[in-house]
Amino acid sequence: MNELDALVDAATTSFAQAVTPADLENAKAQFLGKSGRITELMKGLAALPVEEKKTRGAAINLAKQGVEAALTARRQALADAELQVQLKAEALDVSLPGRQRPTGGLHPVSLTLERIEAIFGSMGFDVAEGPEIETDWFNFTALNTPEDHPARSMHDTFYVEGGTETAPNLLRTHTSPMQIRYAVQHVKKHKVLITAGGVMPEIRVIAPGRTYRVDSDATHSPMFHQCEGLWVGQNVSFKDLKVVFTDFCRTFFESDDLVLRFRPSFFPFTEPSAEIDIQFQAGPLAGRWLEVAGSGQVHPNVVRNMGLDPEHYIGFAFGMGPDRLTMLRYDVNDLRLFFDGDLRFLSQFQ
Ligand code: PHE
Repeated sequence: MNELDALVDAATTSFAQAVTPADLENAKAQFLGKSGRITELMKGLAALPVEEKKTRGAAINLAKQGVEAALTARRQALADAELQVQLKAEALDVSLPGRQRPTGGLHPVSLTLERIEAIFGSMGFDVAEGPEIETDWFNFTALNTPEDHPARSMHDTFYVEGGTETAPNLLRTHTSPMQIRYAVQHVKKHKVLITAGGVMPEIRVIAPGRTYRVDSDATHSPMFHQCEGLWVGQNVSFKDLKVVFTDFCRTFFESDDLVLRFRPSFFPFTEPSAEIDIQFQAGPLAGRWLEVAGSGQVHPNVVRNMGLDPEHYIGFAFGMGPDRLTMLRYDVNDLRLFFDGDLRFLSQFQ
């Protein structure tokens, strides 16, 4: 092997040992740099006679080209290797199963509330919402509930600090305060008409929402839901309540032969009062009477607190438990399941 071939070999070996672009540039300088080995050979040409200069020069040039070719090849190889490393690091395995994004859904009690609102909405009932922190007045006094009524005791009601006679001082124990709140607004809206002796448009409203009592077991929770209903006009009777509530229950439970029973009861704000029981004719609960709501004719004192004359206006109210309706509809036996937040339970309703 002649000296020039050996030089090209040495350069190729040296380039091959370079593992980074910087290494390679250093190796290049040794052969092609200002005082590199090829450059030194070129300088040596000057001292040669013309003829020899030609052949020697051509040979050196050939060697130079060989070195440059080796350099280019190594540069490419290093760039390819770097690309491979990068591709491997950023590799995307498109065959992997995608990440599941669980879809949310409505809580079963929310589903019931939506259902209640849709059914009563179709019967011309407005839907109203009210505060969960109430005053004594709306929760008890305006609803004809005497000072010494047990519902007012500390054992039954959550009182909040800082409340007064008129400032909110308790967590509402039922949605009935909405009877007064809504009716008062309604009367205010039609005040001119009423004072002129005109006929006020009927009050027809439901008021769903959260309610609170000091209670906790399989069928009672300190927070629970209620949905109030109120229907006041000049010519409303118990018969109307019965028709509307029967219709509601049959639609809600999708059962045409469901039977209702009005069982005499007592509430300070209704007189007469009745518990509404329902009975399924088929299915796991068939034949049993199940209590679903309290109801009654609005007490004259309450009608007065609404700003209406009980001699001219009469009404009916009911209060039902959406939690219980949900339990009956889906055959759930423990109310606490609704509020534990366990997705294994909740996701069954989607
Ligand atoms: N507020 C009553 C309760 O919580 C239910 C009810 C509402 C009764 C309206 C009669 C009329 O038990």
